[in-house]
Amino acid sequence: MKLWGEIMNPIRINLTLGLAWLLLGMLLGEHMGRSGDHAQMPTHAHIMLLGGVLSISWAVIYKVFDIPAGLLAWIQTGFHHVSAAVMITALYMLYGHLAEEAALGPVLGISAIGAVVSVLLVLVQTLRARL
Ligand code: HEM
Ligand code: HEM
Repeated sequence: MKLWGEIMNPIRINLTLGLAWLLLGMLLGEHMGRSGDHAQMPTHAHIMLLGGVLSISWAVIYKVFDIPAGLLAWIQTGFHHVSAAVMITALYMLYGHLAEEAALGPVLGISAIGAVVSVLLVLVQTLRARL
């Protein structure tokens, strides 16, 4: 159980998924650069920042401010990663013209709300932390 806790905790999940998003976003950036087709720029921007930079920020905030891996941290981590994955997939489909804009709108809206909830949950935890 102790080993499991070291593998699966909000800090490691945020750090690992964040770095994975950076790699994926860089591959997309490379593709945009090589092909000269920048249509997926908003997707690239959100992969790098929402998927990569924010996830890594959450890991650093949890670590540096010594925030316990309690229920709120788990819920926040879940909200952030599900929202990021859904939003990035929907953006890719939108800018790649793989689905109707009308169908993707609500998906983007709901995932955006999820991303905002995740930030609010970090705010609540940092306000509760002894800094
Ligand atoms: C392998 C590395 C990378 C490559 C090849 C790459 C490539 C690109 C390309 C081709 C564009 C479109 C530029 C345009 O059409 O004006 C772009 C935009 C962008 N990239 Fe990257 N990028 C890389 C790394 C990063 C990193 C590390 C970040 C942030 C952490 C980042 C964030 C952004 C953002 C925010 C935009 C949108 C800029 C805007 O709104 O004008 N990129 N990138
Ligand atoms: C609630 C979640 C979010 C929503 C609904 C949202 C929405 C949008 C929209 C509609 C655009 C314009 C895209 C276009 O040019 O067609 C945009 C661009 C951008 N967003 Fe977000 N965003 C969200 C989260 C974030 C986060 C968390 C970051 C950074 C940490 C970010 C960074 C950017 C950047 C750098 C651009 C300019 C890139 C470009 O021009 O393609 N966004 N966002």
